[in-house]
Amino acid sequence: MLDNINKIKEEVSKFKAATHVELEEFRLKYLSKKGELNALFDEFKSVAGEQKREAGQKLNELKNLLTETFENWKATLDDRAVSASGIDDLSRPGDAIDTGSRHPISIIRKEICDIFSRIGFAIAEGPEIEDDWHVFSALNFPKEHPARDMQDTFFISKDPEIVLRTHTSSVQVRVMETTKPPIRMIMPGRVFRNEAISARAHCIFHQVEGLYIAENVSFAGMKQTLMYFAKEMFGEKSKIRLRPSFFPFTEPSAEMDVSCTCEGKGCGMCKSTGWLEIMGCGMVHPNVLENCGIDPQKYSGYAFGMGIERIACLKFKIKDIRMFFENDVRFIKQFAAAGY
Ligand code: PHE
Repeated sequence: MLDNINKIKEEVSKFKAATHVELEEFRLKYLSKKGELNALFDEFKSVAGEQKREAGQKLNELKNLLTETFENWKATLDDRAVSASGIDDLSRPGDAIDTGSRHPISIIRKEICDIFSRIGFAIAEGPEIEDDWHVFSALNFPKEHPARDMQDTFFISKDPEIVLRTHTSSVQVRVMETTKPPIRMIMPGRVFRNEAISARAHCIFHQVEGLYIAENVSFAGMKQTLMYFAKEMFGEKSKIRLRPSFFPFTEPSAEMDVSCTCEGKGCGMCKSTGWLEIMGCGMVHPNVLENCGIDPQKYSGYAFGMGIERIACLKFKIKDIRMFFENDVRFIKQFAAAGY
């Protein structure tokens, strides 16, 4: 019996397991119910009294050796399987999931839409690729108006004239053609102009335009609405002023300035004038109403339009519009960190 034990000891000391299958063979051979260790324990029962002590000791040593060998190889093989799967430490905390952050343009667009939706403006959207009618003709642009020039407009085809919309006023036309007044809507969207890219201009930018058409709509009502917007967007202390201007689709037309936070004491943003230009607006031209099938005798309305990039630059004090398009994550993440 002792010979047998020594023989097994020697086998075991040389044992190497390359796979779990080999290790299982080891377990079956020595450690299972019908394995060699149990067979030795059976044999032990019939060992004569005086040899029992030594045999028992050897048998226990063998038992420990077998279980240790088995456990050690099991740990080694398990470790190998884990590192092969690429997970080096199962107890390590997982990587945080990067949730990303809203783009500053999306933040401001949402803020503008929220401000107007609180006073009953619904949102309308329309196509970026438009025909001449919706971008220019219906909006009272004369045939020779410079905005129709190749310099300003991206043409997709000349006949029929298909263009990338240069403003979201095209959506106003679509809404007026299909909706009976009263209409109270804002149109956020991306627009395209064939301009040289610089710190102040880009060939792609975003607008939110607004339209209110009902009976007895007045210029004073427009001013009140835009004042509410300025205070919500730039703070309760904000003031607005309207300067006469010209757009083919509004009459009278104005440009709106909002007071600068430097209060005219002088800053780079307002160039020390105390005022920042933020949008165009005016009473919808009767020709436009007529073009869209709305009776200008019965209804009147106002429209306004602003650039989202411009508002974002003012609000976040950004000097270069190109930052919005470069998608540098370090830039974009700042706004999420500021709680937006
Ligand atoms: N559509 C004009 C623009 O793109 C803005 C505007 C909208 C002006 C509505 C007046 C009324 O510049």
